[in-house]
Amino acid sequence: MKLQNDLILRAARGEKTERTPVWLMRQAGRVLPEYRKVREKMGGFKELVETPEFACEVTLQPVDILGVDAAIIFSDILVLPEAMGLPYQMIEAKGPWFEKTIKTQADIDKLHIAQADDLQYVLDAISLTKEALAGKVPLIGFAGAPWTIFAYMTEGSGSKTFSVAKRFLYTQPKLAHALLGKITQSTIHYLIAQVKAGADMVQLFDSWAGVLSPAQYKEFALPYLAEICREVKKTKEVPITVFAKDAFFARKDLAAIPCDTIGLDWTMDIAESKALIGPGKTLQGNMDPCLLYADEEVIYRETLQMLNAFGPHRHIANLGHGLYPDTEKSKVKFFVDTIKEFKFQSNTVHAQS
Ligand code: CP3
Repeated sequence: MKLQNDLILRAARGEKTERTPVWLMRQAGRVLPEYRKVREKMGGFKELVETPEFACEVTLQPVDILGVDAAIIFSDILVLPEAMGLPYQMIEAKGPWFEKTIKTQADIDKLHIAQADDLQYVLDAISLTKEALAGKVPLIGFAGAPWTIFAYMTEGSGSKTFSVAKRFLYTQPKLAHALLGKITQSTIHYLIAQVKAGADMVQLFDSWAGVLSPAQYKEFALPYLAEICREVKKTKEVPITVFAKDAFFARKDLAAIPCDTIGLDWTMDIAESKALIGPGKTLQGNMDPCLLYADEEVIYRETLQMLNAFGPHRHIANLGHGLYPDTEKSKVKFFVDTIKEFKFQSNTVHAQS
């Protein structure tokens, strides 16, 4: 089916667009009262993720309510370790928790390389959502980056330092590569299956990139990200975004892997990022989600400043991380509308007017 709005795909490929497209990380979630209502009907987060009809319903909500230029399939990066044999629980107000973690070669040997049908519920949610979207906007699929998935599989939960996961890299580097290899193979199968089910674009979330040193990122993260991009593109030439949160040091290296878009967080200077990454990639981001706590006047000023700093091409507007759940829906909508209504005027510095 032909897309009525393909701004985000064109921006990712470096084609000109009439305006800057926008979507938001965590756009389907607790900022929407409509999401909370669906969530109340369900037993919990996992049940929602595993029920394609509900995943589809909440995926569509931000498209209809906020008017964003893309949908992102409602799921979680942690479905993949589960498909490999490491189940997780989502504990209310605390976050993810794994009963078993990976410590030894024997633990790695027991892990299964995930195949497409291990995550059939996500693929079903994607097909259902594609049908329900009826070409309105593109659908984004996603997975965790291998390092971030490795971090959860070894640490067993979130952490400020991820010192268990990092200890693994320093003390058992060979085993670390074996585990990263298995995660990478699983992720390739998973993303190819998402694309076949209808995802128009995919994003790799490297949420814990910033706890690694530049050298560790080069050794334990980048080669695996590059392999995933290469392999997925062999099946279909879909745009791929890599978002390595807090990894300011990796921007230049990310420019050399076969992805199309690089996600920036708000700590990364826009002009400096453009210079480091060069014109061959589209940039995505990078507003601080906390800006949305401010008055509309402040949101307006900062948003225009961001848009002007990125310029009219090769930019997909977004936040620098997911929306915080206590953000007011009206502020989110105001941010999206400001971006959609903005027009570039040559030689005008909007942000200072
Ligand atoms: O709208 C969207 O962006 C799509 C849905 C989505 C979720 N998780 C739903 C979710 C996406 C893209 C993710 C990715 C994800 N999950 C990441 C990478 C992005 C990032 O935030 O860095 C990570 C690290 C996870 C793991 C995860 N899932 C954590 C740490 C938590 C708990 C913290 C929190 O925000 O609550 C989750 C839970 C989660 N995933 C929720 C949602 C909507 C909240 C659960 C709820 O609704 O009760």
